[in-house]
Amino acid sequence: MNFSSMGKGKQSKYVAKVPDETGHIGYSDEENAIWHDLITRQIPMLPGRACPQWIEALEKMDLPVNRVPQINELNAVLEQHTGWHVWPVPALIPFTKFFGLLADRKFPVATFIRTREDFDYLEEPDVFHEVFGHTPVLTDHRFGAFIEAYGKAGLAADPKDHAMLARLFWFTVEFGLAETAEGIRAYGSGIMSSPGELVYAVESDKPQRKPFDPVDALRTPYRIDIFQTVYFVLESFDQLFDLAQMDLLKLVAEARRLGMHEPTFPPREVA
Ligand SMILES: [Fe+2]
Repeated sequence: MNFSSMGKGKQSKYVAKVPDETGHIGYSDEENAIWHDLITRQIPMLPGRACPQWIEALEKMDLPVNRVPQINELNAVLEQHTGWHVWPVPALIPFTKFFGLLADRKFPVATFIRTREDFDYLEEPDVFHEVFGHTPVLTDHRFGAFIEAYGKAGLAADPKDHAMLARLFWFTVEFGLAETAEGIRAYGSGIMSSPGELVYAVESDKPQRKPFDPVDALRTPYRIDIFQTVYFVLESFDQLFDLAQMDLLKLVAEARRLGMHEPTFPPREVA
């Protein structure tokens, strides 16, 4: 899930699939083939670019290669580690629903897969982004604690602060980097589910890579339709656990007092 999917009135050409009474979701042979092609393209890209802890977490998920994984089998693994669940949702959900699910340790997963036309990139989060990108870190108690605290802060926040909070999620869960013994590596789901941005985020000299500071991240604008111009780098995943113990809304108030940073990218052209 990401915040590109939560703009009011936004329409998606995709329709999420609804599970049957047993929780099973039917995907076509072509949809399963698209999953296969996406995951087998991405896995060889990971060494040297993904955090080693992220690769270990992916191994825990033991995702199938030849078909889209089912919600029930993902939950069986997550229950063993952190008690998190994934929760099927339509492509578009409002902020309050999103925060409420996270506060309840349910990670919303849009249950459709991109078409081949959108194979390399789509703005909406599809099931490849959701499952391959997001579920591995849900096996880590530090991420679990942070995302739950984030959901609770979102529920308590004034709606005017939702966009501010969206930036904190964006620069950690979606597009975060972290220091590792090997150097800077990626863990954010938007990076992990994109072969192009995985290389760019870790290897390019174009983007800024700043030490993670939550107030700084809250003040940093982003665009959803380009490779990021700024990334924030965690010292370690423990920083997210520490953040979960803090009053996130106080940090939002501080960010609001200090004001937004200037964008480091050109404005999006509107067709
Ligand atoms: Fe996402």
